[in-house]
Amino acid sequence: MPALTLPELQTQLREWKGCALYKTATQAVLGEGNPQAEVMFIGEAPGQKEDEQGRPFVGPAGQFLDELLGTIGLKRADVYISNVVKYRPPQNRDPTPEEKEQCMPWLKQEIAIIKPKVIVPLGRHALGHFFTKLSITEGHGKPQILRGVYPEQGRGAQDDKDSITVFPIYHPAAALHNGGLRQALYDDFKALGKFLEERKTR
Ligand code: URA
Repeated sequence: MPALTLPELQTQLREWKGCALYKTATQAVLGEGNPQAEVMFIGEAPGQKEDEQGRPFVGPAGQFLDELLGTIGLKRADVYISNVVKYRPPQNRDPTPEEKEQCMPWLKQEIAIIKPKVIVPLGRHALGHFFTKLSITEGHGKPQILRGVYPEQGRGAQDDKDSITVFPIYHPAAALHNGGLRQALYDDFKALGKFLEERKTR
């Protein structure tokens, strides 16, 4: 299949009914941001505001994410922000493994289009997309190398150019419910900022 553009992906997603969550949601929510972003943030699923507006991370968790990005000198327009699940689960319940599986091709296509160098899974659902055995409690704030992400570019799976860094961070919404995690999020963003800075000079 020829590579799609983000607007084409958006058009296709609007028609998609491959996940039963479409029945209770207002609309599907694709990621948004810089199509050439080096850094891609991935959350869990749209919440109420995202469902209403058709955009990712525009509610309270999104406001906190904007603030956290600001602490390391980044704006939304610099990065790409998306979710594992494309429709809001009712009452913001956890998405089921089946729903995550059904939505996975969309996220994979977004990654294939953006080709980020660093992926930041926000919380356990996004982290589970990349590492099934690593818990967010254990892995947050620690960069992991993932190889073989872009083999379709004709590079060997062991080639460094084919590897990306996955930098897990707690979900910003978790800190809104559990104040104790707030500092962990600031600390992890500080570590992410340092990591991105050091990458530039390599
Ligand atoms: N939480 C998420 O995981 N994603 C959003 O887009 C908003 C809140």
